[in-house]
Amino acid sequence: MTELEKAQNLLDTVLHVRRESACPFSSEVEEKFKNHCLSVAYISEKIASAVRNLNPEKAYVLGLLHDAGRISDEKTEGTFHGLTGFDYLIKNNMPSAARIAFTHCFYEPQLNLSMYRMKPQDYVRSRELLKQISFDDYDYLIQLADILNDCGRQCTIEYRFNSVAKRHNLNNEIVKMSVSRLNELKKYFDEKCRCDIYDLLQIDQKISV
Ligand SMILES: [Fe+2]
Repeated sequence: MTELEKAQNLLDTVLHVRRESACPFSSEVEEKFKNHCLSVAYISEKIASAVRNLNPEKAYVLGLLHDAGRISDEKTEGTFHGLTGFDYLIKNNMPSAARIAFTHCFYEPQLNLSMYRMKPQDYVRSRELLKQISFDDYDYLIQLADILNDCGRQCTIEYRFNSVAKRHNLNNEIVKMSVSRLNELKKYFDEKCRCDIYDLLQIDQKISV
């Protein structure tokens, strides 16, 4: 079985387990979640194809599985999807994807640690894991790809944060800091691709929430 087939099977299992859980996605949310995972995979592959030293197939697999931690519901189960996904993928012998399931949550490590309402033991574990990892281009790539779409629809960083802020009542200061960090990441990949990522992905910059 190829890595891609394995990743597709694991994503199907995530959806199946969540469907059978005490807190399943509604069918509408499941569809949006699936589209989001496919879109992050596509965006990651597309950017990786334009960057030397990044493997597009690997980027696709990492994008597809980045939200595997959604196998359980954070709110009702008091879990943190970064660690749930990490443990799930380690258990399934996908160490690179496990790392991404964790690191994609931390584009601004200190800010993101304070954003998540984690159990104290998850907080300590996350802090320790963060100390052991020095982020590389795959970590940064999936962090960016995760934000360049909203429920599977490709969009700008600003669109995504406005949409999330509306849905989750996010604090303005957090939105500003997040947008600024993600724009730095975009610039980093613009330079690596020698083009504007928005043009590469044909993202319409005029659409607003
Ligand atoms: Fe995501």
